[in-house]
Amino acid sequence: MLISLRDRWCLVLGASSGMGRATALALAEQGMHVIGVHFDTAERADSVPPLLDEIREHGVSAHFVNANAASARVRAELVPVIAGLTGGAGVHVLLHSLAFGTLQPYLPRDGNRPLTARQLDMTVDVMAHSLVYWVQDLVEAGLLPSGAKVLAMTSAGSSRAMPSYGAVSAAKCALESHVRQLACELARFGISVNALRAGVTPTPALRRIPEYREFVAQAAGVNPHGRLTLPEDVAEAVVLLAGSDSSWITGNVIGVDGAEHLSGVPSWNPARTTVNGKGESDAHRTAEPG
Ligand SMILES: NC(=O)c1ccc[n+]([C@@H]2O[C@H](COP(=O)([O-])OP(=O)(O)OC[C@H]3O[C@@H](n4cnc5c(N)ncnc54)[C@H](O)[C@@H]3O)[C@@H](O)[C@H]2O)c1
Repeated sequence: MLISLRDRWCLVLGASSGMGRATALALAEQGMHVIGVHFDTAERADSVPPLLDEIREHGVSAHFVNANAASARVRAELVPVIAGLTGGAGVHVLLHSLAFGTLQPYLPRDGNRPLTARQLDMTVDVMAHSLVYWVQDLVEAGLLPSGAKVLAMTSAGSSRAMPSYGAVSAAKCALESHVRQLACELARFGISVNALRAGVTPTPALRRIPEYREFVAQAAGVNPHGRLTLPEDVAEAVVLLAGSDSSWITGNVIGVDGAEHLSGVPSWNPARTTVNGKGESDAHRTAEPG
């Protein structure tokens, strides 16, 4: 059944930037109260007060915490806060959108040292395992009601190798595996769990990847929509999935990339499309009557 999101609560992990920020705003626009966790330096955290104002302009509550969402201590502190804020009702949406990993090859290359066990463990812990621990704690506290949506951000890098992306790729594989497992375990509670595979999206996290210019050029070239994914595309997908109390769409990796992942060649790009030797706009024109 389709439902209203008004006066429900969401918990966004990674709420200050990129997909998390756009989703917090989009859910607030639908009348949802937002609990956000982010982990930023003082300089980056400067963007949070204006974001809170923007969220509250929709007449909803916003409660943000600058802390490591992968810390057991932070979870232990926040779960009772979530219970209090939501009056025990819990969160209808949990979005896991944490970008915090080591970006370098496994073996020495370009002057880098080999990836350490600590770096690999931390990357997979923050970007994948923390989803499991949050779900465990929220379920135990009765804060994920029937109909709740658990959504986690994955990427095409879960199935592709790129020089600096090995640790994050491993995290994305683990995350997708956690999504499948949680989907099956939470089915009896009527809670759905899905991964959203965003296309290449211009955000601070993308710009930290050493090869990001190549990613952008490649994705922009092959995306059949002729543009890159925007954080707002992801936010709209979350709103769409959240607006139902069904748990039948569950255990999936859902592409939110305008078919970028499927597209093998740049000739899909409308900017490069030709029909009978004419550019796309010319082709449209000749199809018009009169
Ligand atoms: N940008 C892309 O091209 C792209 C594509 C596919 C998937 N993704 C995934 O989407 C997710 C979000 O990425 P983004 O591009 O929006 O990144 P971003 O850098 O714009 O935002 C990351 C957010 O995570 C928060 N964060 C990082 N570590 C944290 C921690 N330990 N505890 C609490 N908050 C923490 C930051 O404060 C920030 O709010 C990531 O999982 C990323 O892998 C990104």
